[in-house]
Amino acid sequence: MNVLVVGRGGREHSLVKKLAESNQLTNLYAAPGNGGMQEEAVCIDIDEMDIEGLVAYAKEASIDLTVVGPETPLNAGITNRFHEEGLAVFAPTKEAALLEGSKSYAKEFMKKYDVPTADYAVFTNAEEAKAYIEEKGAPIVVKADGLAAGKGVIVAMTKEEALQAVDDMLVSKAFLNAGATVVIEEFLAGKEFSLMAFVHENQVFPMVTARDHKRAFDNDQGPNTGGMGAFAPVPDVTREHLDFSMEQILQKTADGMISEDRPFTGILYAGLIMTNAGPKVIEFNTRFGDPETQVVLPLLKNDLIQVFTDVLNGKDPELVWEDQSCVGLVLASEGYPGSYEKGVAIPQFNESASTFIVHAGTKQAEDALVSDGGRVLLVGSKGPSLDACANDVYGLLEKANVSGDFFYRKDIGKQ
Ligand code: AMP
Ligand code: GLY
Repeated sequence: MNVLVVGRGGREHSLVKKLAESNQLTNLYAAPGNGGMQEEAVCIDIDEMDIEGLVAYAKEASIDLTVVGPETPLNAGITNRFHEEGLAVFAPTKEAALLEGSKSYAKEFMKKYDVPTADYAVFTNAEEAKAYIEEKGAPIVVKADGLAAGKGVIVAMTKEEALQAVDDMLVSKAFLNAGATVVIEEFLAGKEFSLMAFVHENQVFPMVTARDHKRAFDNDQGPNTGGMGAFAPVPDVTREHLDFSMEQILQKTADGMISEDRPFTGILYAGLIMTNAGPKVIEFNTRFGDPETQVVLPLLKNDLIQVFTDVLNGKDPELVWEDQSCVGLVLASEGYPGSYEKGVAIPQFNESASTFIVHAGTKQAEDALVSDGGRVLLVGSKGPSLDACANDVYGLLEKANVSGDFFYRKDIGKQ
């Protein structure tokens, strides 16, 4: 089969690596891809938002299956256009992708179908939003309704911060249209985990759990980022939590989307928090998580092309997971998530059999790979325990003599 992966980040490189293992593969393409993918895939210079360009390329290159990484093309209707052209694509339609594209829609949906989540209210008027904050007090969480590249969530520990977030979103339009509506929700305390599933309408096939680390610095300090590292599976998630999340969250959501006439096909990602009352939804994503994918896919034993094909055909892919752990550490450009330099030569790593490198913000310069983004690459390890993986990953990073142009967290995967 000829397979096309849409996107350019670590998540997409991880997909490319897994797809490249398949013996059903003829040609593998990535659009636009990144510098590190060239070993496994042909990178095509088409932007992920150039939907007509992607449709045309998929026809020209006789692509049999397209997998979409990022959320923005999903909400712009890439899947709908591929369907119109009779092209196979593993991704939700824009109607189904609204579960991620609009937080107010997701909250309304969860309320209607009794999916556990934080209490909330929706506002477009700043005065009303502020009155609600005055009434509820802090801590409280203010979220831009639309897609904001992970930056539209303010967990306000004081009322002042929450009021400021309302001004930023509704008055100063810091997130433009994405913040023209805000969701204000109850602050939930507990450990978080991510649960992703392959979904086709009412069929839900869960993956192993993962934990993302969104803050830039050790001990979950500093600004939120796209994710500084992850591990899988999460040892503190019990069988009971999993069964509950599967039945009360993922299955109910898949079924509810059918009732809403927005049947879901693709990856459903639940960002969950373990409260005293059990797991609750923090957010839905309608795609693979980044960097969760980079530590989950290495544990999948199945042929990923077969999994996508089976799920699209309504067949149980019979997922089999390795009884191992996986840890991934992001190497970021110094200054990220603020401003940083690009074009810096990336460190060399002496990979071993258990370690792997997934590229994100890298590009091929004349004779070397150089940095081209905030999150540059991920150093991963698969092994018998989280500790063994963490030792492996940190060992590799230490030996690479990473310069001051880059930084990474020192506490991920260490229990
Ligand atoms: P999101 O982009 O919706 O995943 O939110 C980013 C991060 O904000 C989450 O990973 C949580 O750590 C935090 N967060 C979001 N909603 C809540 C909430 N209701 N209570 C506590 N923390 C939250
Ligand atoms: N890791 C969170 C996300 O992909 O949005």
